[in-house]
Amino acid sequence: MDGLSRRRMLIASGALGAFGTLSLASPARARSLWTWSPSGSVAGEGAGLDPEWVWDEEVDRLVAAVIGRGDVSRVNEQLRQWTRNDQPLPSGLPGDLRDFMEKARQLPSWADRVKLEAAAEFNKSRGIYLNLLNGVGGGMLSTAIPREARSVYYSKGGADMEDRVAKTSLLGFAVGDLNAFRPDGDVIVQAVKTRLVHAAVRHLLPQSPGWSKTSGGQTIPISQQDMLVTWHSLPTYTMRKLLEWKVPVPPADSAAYLHLWQVTAHLLGIRDEYIPNSWDAAEDQSRQVLDPILGPTREGVELTDILLRQLAEQTSPGGIDRPLVNALARYLVGDQVADWDGIPHEPFWEKAIATAWPKLVAFREKLIPLPLVPPLAWTIDEAARQYILFYLTKGRGTHIEIPDTNRPA
Ligand code: HEM
Repeated sequence: MDGLSRRRMLIASGALGAFGTLSLASPARARSLWTWSPSGSVAGEGAGLDPEWVWDEEVDRLVAAVIGRGDVSRVNEQLRQWTRNDQPLPSGLPGDLRDFMEKARQLPSWADRVKLEAAAEFNKSRGIYLNLLNGVGGGMLSTAIPREARSVYYSKGGADMEDRVAKTSLLGFAVGDLNAFRPDGDVIVQAVKTRLVHAAVRHLLPQSPGWSKTSGGQTIPISQQDMLVTWHSLPTYTMRKLLEWKVPVPPADSAAYLHLWQVTAHLLGIRDEYIPNSWDAAEDQSRQVLDPILGPTREGVELTDILLRQLAEQTSPGGIDRPLVNALARYLVGDQVADWDGIPHEPFWEKAIATAWPKLVAFREKLIPLPLVPPLAWTIDEAARQYILFYLTKGRGTHIEIPDTNRPA
């Protein structure tokens, strides 16, 4: 570990406080008892099974078989040809997998095209906030989700975070696109491919000694509960922030944005009985599954550092604005999560952002006139735009593909 990483680990372990010493095998924090009722879901009913013990059975079996018979590169070659929502599935896919994908690509009966179109408009008009929160903010939150940080770290993509960010941004971009669910969009394609990738990870990670040693007793990763946790780190967190920043969100836009993410959750393989049917139900579920499990891990600290370094280097050659990147990340996720992620304090920029960002939001929302915006705010605004551009263009020319190995030991 280099000096800087050691410093970040010290920040993170200092923040551990009540949780004790940060060790290689620091267990994930305790989960709350599952009491969330399926009556608050889009299905309106369900068996009420604890999602900790539910995965994605059919596709998990199919993808494990593809890996088992050494067919991954042939399947990936076929998947590369599938790029649009309205395109038939490639004929060279194995028959059973193709049948599954044919079912998986269908929108649920409760999907509402009018709301999806409204969500696309909302994504356009509020793009700067949504992309910043989902991209940079969601990324920084995900590294403080112990199971996610460790899964990512020990899986194939953990060894090449640049590629991993690029692939992940493909889904982010697809969700926010004006064409997202139209025939020429690709959110259905990217979500179904992601469902296959997660199935592969469930098969592969249990074979990783690094993951097995740190999984806190979990034997198969990416349960439905884990999926819900990550889901809340995207729309639920984003909506909380929009309200905190006093961005006016008309009720129709708020409902449309929730709907967009409900349909995306369904396409990613989250069961309808777990998908919240309102923001209140989402908040309730998030308090139960996300808030109690956030915490520091060695893997999360390392991944955060890599992600922030990438942002700083690629948006500003020479990396001179790393302090600004650190401060913006801290602002997005708050001090507690930032400390767990080992993000250093940057007193000058933290103060500048805390003063300028609310003014920028108010100016953009036409609530205050230009002279009230401090000049430094435009440097911060430009940085935010650069990060978004970096995040959204990163995925060009890359593909979401089924991994066939874990991170090399
Ligand atoms: C892969 C998104 C939940 C761990 C991916 C990819 C996307 C994605 C777009 C494909 C990019 C790539 O192949 O690198 C999401 C979304 C989620 C979710 C939107 C929930 C709403 C989770 C959870 C975990 C997880 C809960 C673990 C606890 C992984 C791993 C990979 C992956 C390990 C593969 C990395 C590799 O190729 O080695 N995810 N994910 N994801 N995801 Fe997720």
